[in-house]
Amino acid sequence: MNYRHIFHAGNFADVLKHLVFRMVLSYLQQKEKGLFVLDAFAGLGCYDLTADQAQRTLEYQDGIARLMEAVVNNPDLKDFKAFAQESFTQHRYDGSPVLAAKMLRPQDRLIANELHPEDVVSLRRNLRAFDPVAVTQLDAYEAIRANIPPKERRGIVLIDPPFEKKDEFQLLVREMQEWQKRWATGCYILWYPIKSNQPIDDLYEAAAKLQVNRTWVVEYLLRERGVEQGLNGCGLLIFNTPFQIPERVDALVPELTGALGGKIRSFYLGSSTSA
Ligand SMILES: C[S@@+](CC[C@H](N)C(=O)[O-])C[C@H]1O[C@@H](n2cnc3c(N)ncnc32)[C@H](O)[C@@H]1O
Repeated sequence: MNYRHIFHAGNFADVLKHLVFRMVLSYLQQKEKGLFVLDAFAGLGCYDLTADQAQRTLEYQDGIARLMEAVVNNPDLKDFKAFAQESFTQHRYDGSPVLAAKMLRPQDRLIANELHPEDVVSLRRNLRAFDPVAVTQLDAYEAIRANIPPKERRGIVLIDPPFEKKDEFQLLVREMQEWQKRWATGCYILWYPIKSNQPIDDLYEAAAKLQVNRTWVVEYLLRERGVEQGLNGCGLLIFNTPFQIPERVDALVPELTGALGGKIRSFYLGSSTSA
């Protein structure tokens, strides 16, 4: 386990992931009924942008820093900027579990899971102030299987692997089948990197075959998908995408790409565009 998210915290990929995660969570919170959120690969929870690792890559400068400088009119972008403002002013960036924890209502429940022995200690510290939040230290796929279906029967599972394992895509394809069997109505948000040698078409094909409702993909490309080196972009594959989210994400694309560059495309997989 060599991956350290602090090198990448607040980059374009984090901005897309956290923006969409916040939109989905807040959409589902329109109903009074409690929600379950499982952040299966939670990371540290909060990142110090002045830390040596963040300063070595400066990835946040082309991500959250550009968005914070931009003047935007889109309501979802404005909302995300307002959310990120306090931490950013203090040179920090909130990761997915802290973002979710800050949004929880008393009737909601969050489990943040992180396997790395050092990172889980920071995660516990960063989530100490929030209730009701539980931190677990399991393999993420084990954590998902142990928690679905949740008793609330409504909720989100965020799956954000580091993709250190060569067969992570194949592993995801196998695990997705299990999620569909155990809890086909859950909202799953899966993040993946776009690099030249990755089997992304296989992922689309496997996801479409599951025939889960409203399976939708949004991808942020800084370069063409086939460029040989580095991270060309990233995607989010969402099962049971809440209504309005695709349209609202499409509406913020011009201002987001205007601020951060690159291109964003989105599409449904299979024929599952309605609930
Ligand atoms: C991309 S980072 C998570 C970032 C976080 N979701 C966010 O958006 O703020 C991936 C995290 O997964 C952890 N990790 C790696 N393998 C894992 C496993 N098998 N189970 C759980 N966590 C794992 C890594 O230590 C790392 O902190």
